[in-house]
Order: sequence, then C-alpha cells, then structure tokens
Amino acid sequence: MSNKEVTLRIFRGQGGSKGEMVEYKVPRDPGMVVLDAVHQVQALHSPDLAVRWNCKAGKCGSCGGEVNGKPRLMCMDRLDNYPDDQPIEVRPMKAFPVIKDLVTDVSWNYEINKLIPAFKPANPDDMRFSQREADRVQEFRKCIECFLCQDVCHVLRDHDKKGTDGGPKFAGPRFMVRVAGLEMHPLDTEDRTDLLKDQLGIGFCNITKCCTEVCPESIHITDNAIIPLKERVVDKHYDPLQILWRKVSGKS
Ligand code: SF4
Ligand code: F3S
Ligand code: FES
Repeated sequence: MSNKEVTLRIFRGQGGSKGEMVEYKVPRDPGMVVLDAVHQVQALHSPDLAVRWNCKAGKCGSCGGEVNGKPRLMCMDRLDNYPDDQPIEVRPMKAFPVIKDLVTDVSWNYEINKLIPAFKPANPDDMRFSQREADRVQEFRKCIECFLCQDVCHVLRDHDKKGTDGGPKFAGPRFMVRVAGLEMHPLDTEDRTDLLKDQLGIGFCNITKCCTEVCPESIHITDNAIIPLKERVVDKHYDPLQILWRKVSGKS
C-alpha cells in the first residue's frame, strides 16, 4: 500500500444488529485527522456512513468514537498518531447503544443530568466572589460533554448502568465533574452529598483514573472532582465526630 493512502476499518451496523467491520482505502494528505478520513469514505465510497460531528475543532464534543480501541475525538486525532502501514480501526463508543455506524445514543447522560439540583445561591442579588474561588471551579466548566470519560470508565462500560430502581448505579465521571463544579462553587448552598452517595453511586468509582487520561479538556477528573467529593460523602456519612455533632446540634 502506498503511504499516500490510509486504510480504515470502520464499524457498520444499525442499532440492535451485530454489525461488521468494513475496510476502506482513501487518499492520505498531510495534517489529516481521523474525521477527515471518515469524511473521505463518505465522499468516495459510502455516502450513507453515519458519523456525528459539528465543530471540527474539539469544542462541540460530538465526534467521540474509539480509534484503535481508545476513546478519542475523531476531529482532533491526527493520522500521524498511527503507523502508516497498518489499518486504523474506528468504532462507536462502546458504553452507549449504537444508532447507526459510528453514531451512538447518549441520551442516558441527559437523564442523569436531570437528577442534579441546579446552582442555588444564597443571595442572587449579590454574586460576588474572589478570583481564587473562581479558579477552583473554572476547570469543571471546561467540560464539552463528549462523554469519552463515560465511555472509558469500566464501571459504565462493563456493567449494566441501571440500578434496581431504574436509576443509575453509577452516574459516571462526567457527572462527578458537574456536581464538583456546583458543590465547590463559593456561592452555592445546596447539599448534594446524599445524592452522590445514594443516587449517583459515587462509591462505585475505584479511582482507576482512566477517565482523566482520556479527557480532551485535561480536566483532573479523579484528583480534583471525584476524590474531594468522596471525602465530602465520607465526612458527612461516616465521620463519627460529624455524626455526633449533627445529633447534638440538630443540624442535618
Ligand atoms: Fe469529555 Fe472531559 Fe467532559 Fe468527560 S469531563 S465529558 S472527557 S470533556
Ligand atoms: Fe471510572 Fe474514573 Fe472512577 S474511570 S472508576 S470514574 S476514576
Ligand atoms: Fe466538535 Fe469533534 S466535531 S469536537
């Protein structure tokens, strides 16, 4: 094969079907990313190949897939990252049901999102806080909802996501990031520790850190979001001094 060509093996199939990997060769130009090559497949071989994308700039979070087995934004994944004499495998995210080809149904995530109480400031007319306090939560606001962290987390990937009551067993790293952004906001007054423990299943995370490794926004998901939230849950529910203080003071 000329290295002016790239060979892609792409998953083709509809939701519910087993699907198959289909091989395509397309011209390879300098600077191409995986999404460019997928678009070439659409243009030259298979216009009905389904792929979701919008910005082609790593900002909309819609082009997530698995390239050679690793969760990636296809629009940011350069072909130079892969050997030019071997096929590149492109599959849909495994943690979500396939709709068609590379497009998955990620609506489960939006259902989880609805469980999380919104920002609740004590005084909406006075929203002042310091830059240092803003810096602490700024990182969490960078999330582009690509769900690559959800895809890679073994708790969501390998186990049934639903608990016995139909709610989530584990909401996943993306929602730990969202809750951290709210809980650590200096003006927020809502307490989401019960929700984290009982409905969002924070205890299922065993700190493997795979989520942090794949995050295209380099959010320190495990160290800065999940671990501090776990500490809050432990403090509230398992620290004997805090339990005693709540009994004595009558505060929940
Ligand atoms: Fe994507 Fe990172 Fe947000 Fe997870 S936390 S959804 S990997 S941007
Ligand atoms: Fe999953 Fe990340 Fe925890 S990969 S197990 S949420 S550290
Ligand atoms: Fe928007 Fe890839 S197309 S992140």
